[in-house]
Amino acid sequence: MTENVLPASELYTDEFAADPYPAFAKLREDSPVCPVTSPRFDSFLITRFDDAKAALNDPRLSKDLYGPEQHFLRIFGPNSEAINKNMLNSDPPEHSRLRRITSRAFAPRRIEALRPRVAEIVSELLDKVVPQGQADLMHDFAIPLPMMVISELLGIPTADHDQVLAWTQVIRESGSSGRPPAEERAAVQEAQLQLHHYLADVIQAKRAQPPADDMISSLIEACDQDGQLSERELVSTTFLLLFAGHQTTADFIGNAMVALLTNPEQLDLLLRTPELLPSAVEELLRFDGPLPVASPRIATEDLEFRGVRIPAGSIVGVAINAANHDPEAFADADRLDLSRERGPHMGFGHGVHYCLGVTLARIEAQIGIGALLRRLPGLRLALPVEELRRLPAASPFRGLIELPVRFNA
Ligand code: HEM
Repeated sequence: MTENVLPASELYTDEFAADPYPAFAKLREDSPVCPVTSPRFDSFLITRFDDAKAALNDPRLSKDLYGPEQHFLRIFGPNSEAINKNMLNSDPPEHSRLRRITSRAFAPRRIEALRPRVAEIVSELLDKVVPQGQADLMHDFAIPLPMMVISELLGIPTADHDQVLAWTQVIRESGSSGRPPAEERAAVQEAQLQLHHYLADVIQAKRAQPPADDMISSLIEACDQDGQLSERELVSTTFLLLFAGHQTTADFIGNAMVALLTNPEQLDLLLRTPELLPSAVEELLRFDGPLPVASPRIATEDLEFRGVRIPAGSIVGVAINAANHDPEAFADADRLDLSRERGPHMGFGHGVHYCLGVTLARIEAQIGIGALLRRLPGLRLALPVEELRRLPAASPFRGLIELPVRFNA
């Protein structure tokens, strides 16, 4: 490490929340494997593209944070295991079994068939805002869209969508309510508990009905008929799909719209050439993705990365958004370039935990962003970009709390 290294504590500032890329550039340059202290836990942060790829493929970096060291029990409390110990927080062979079962319920055919329904939900949401000439694109569009899609896909009753959304929003916006940290932690744990009980009740209710054509019913079948899934795994998998299925997509759509609205020549290009949309979505995800650091890994033995010793038991964070701006991997990496030749970015992760919902995420983002541009002419930010309220820097997610815009009604 050189003297220039950014002190780790500086990573968790409002400045970092607004624009993390200068700090990531400095880390990539000066300390590509950097010990970092955070409000929740200490870790080593990996910021270069090649290292990130290698780390996400390295079986010595375990995802079993409920394993021998019990990291997650300490960080998230004793009740967290029932909901958090799912495929994302496990290693092969449990991971392979859970992923195989869930992938079946997540068959590409079922997901592709959703296109018309996604378009319909998008239209319904936009019909409400179009006459108003202004909107908060987070609450009016980016958050409800993926929430409604994943809820329908899972088979969560429509009447409950608002309540489920309210619980997930408490978890998503933790750290930004202005309440004392202990109070906020308690509110998050309470929301998780409520959601846990709620999902367990939905599962019981579905068991009492003839099987429906939805994902929870497919998972129930894997649990009850084939015995491949325990009751706890059934609930925690449902929670993972619900949460992973909307949080990242919502934040991504918000970040993508800010990127377009603050790069008017790229916005013009997309308006003139809508066929660019699929590759534009990939570039927007590379440029400002919603998961700055992949979920934590833990070193199962002493490791060395770029000459830095990572002792066994350490938590390792792979900074996806830093890797995606690595000039060694992408020319002019800090520039949004929608006509960039499509190279492999890391926005959907890498290795065995590569995003299971990638097809759905792409469908929602392409249809959603395309419709926003078509139906909201003259779209512009209602506030200077620096004044947009963001999730705090210590949040696992990079996203906006509000995205006020105006357009020609
Ligand atoms: C733009 C939207 C999305 C982005 C950027 C995204 C990104 C990611 C990333 C980076 C990972 C790997 C995390 C890690 O290795 O720590 C991941 C995993 C996962 N994602 Fe997504 N995701 C998105 C949307 C979705 C959707 C719509 C679903 C649908 C349910 C979903 C379900 C999952 C699941 C289940 C995993 C865990 C896979 C495993 O552990 O094997 N994601 N996602």
